[in-house]
Amino acid sequence: MLKSIPQILRERLQLPVGFSIADLVASIRTLPVKIDDFEVLDKVPSNELSSLTRMAMRQNGEPFLKWWHYFDIYSRELDSLVSHPEKSGLRRPLRVLEIGVWRGGSLGLWREYFGSDAVIYGVDIDPNSSLYNGTHAQVRIGSQTDCAFMNSVIDEMSGVDVVIDDGSHNSRDVIETLRCLWPRLTFGGLYFIEDLHTSYWPAWGGGLHRRTSSIEKLKSLVDVLHQPYFERQADPFKLGITQQELFSVSFFDSVTVLSKRDNLEPRPFRGGRK
Ligand SMILES: C[S@@+](CC[C@H](N)C(=O)[O-])C[C@H]1O[C@@H](n2cnc3c(N)ncnc32)[C@H](O)[C@@H]1O
Repeated sequence: MLKSIPQILRERLQLPVGFSIADLVASIRTLPVKIDDFEVLDKVPSNELSSLTRMAMRQNGEPFLKWWHYFDIYSRELDSLVSHPEKSGLRRPLRVLEIGVWRGGSLGLWREYFGSDAVIYGVDIDPNSSLYNGTHAQVRIGSQTDCAFMNSVIDEMSGVDVVIDDGSHNSRDVIETLRCLWPRLTFGGLYFIEDLHTSYWPAWGGGLHRRTSSIEKLKSLVDVLHQPYFERQADPFKLGITQQELFSVSFFDSVTVLSKRDNLEPRPFRGGRK
């Protein structure tokens, strides 16, 4: 049977059903970095690049797709946790779960970054990703929205300290996954959500200020952080994340990072001796 052009494009670009031409144009941003980008970065003095960016540039195995600036974000959020997990109340080996394996390349990067002792798992809905099981990490096949499956993976990992959601990027999936995994994230751990520019695109269930978009729901966590200062219950989207365990919400271009910590009641501090 002949396939229509949108059908072929949807399959090649892994676009969800219902994408529009505008989404398609916008989605060009999610395509692999062009060779020009490498040339530009080659000219950047290497001491201005984060260690993770340099590590990413050195990878010569299977391909992976990230945005250049993501490595700086991961470096900033993770470097000290990786070198001194005990300062965050974590223990080695660190347990890392990446949703979205694709060709397994990012698992290779994470293996080098987190070290040989780290427990690293990847999950993907595509059975082809099982080809990469055991190369750098364990790979399990299933959907990020299947909470029983995700829980079984985390049971196998004996818990999770770092979650990286680089899966479907569909707003509903991102939030469903967060609801499912947040209770399983260790205190001291970090939860990364990549490619949130998709939350502005209707084909991914997004749109600017659209209440159902993932970014709109994540923004509500700013209110959850400030829950002690007002009466009404924050968490209109029932994310199930409370102020007692949410230490920070960091928004970067297309990446949001949530950090989980056992928070003390906010108390005023008076400094000085006079
Ligand atoms: C952008 S790729 C991941 C790329 C990889 N992490 C990297 O950095 O190169 C997204 C992956 O998510 C997978 N995916 C899509 N929907 C999913 C779902 N519901 N559950 C799990 N994985 C899903 C796709 O099959 C695809 O391999």
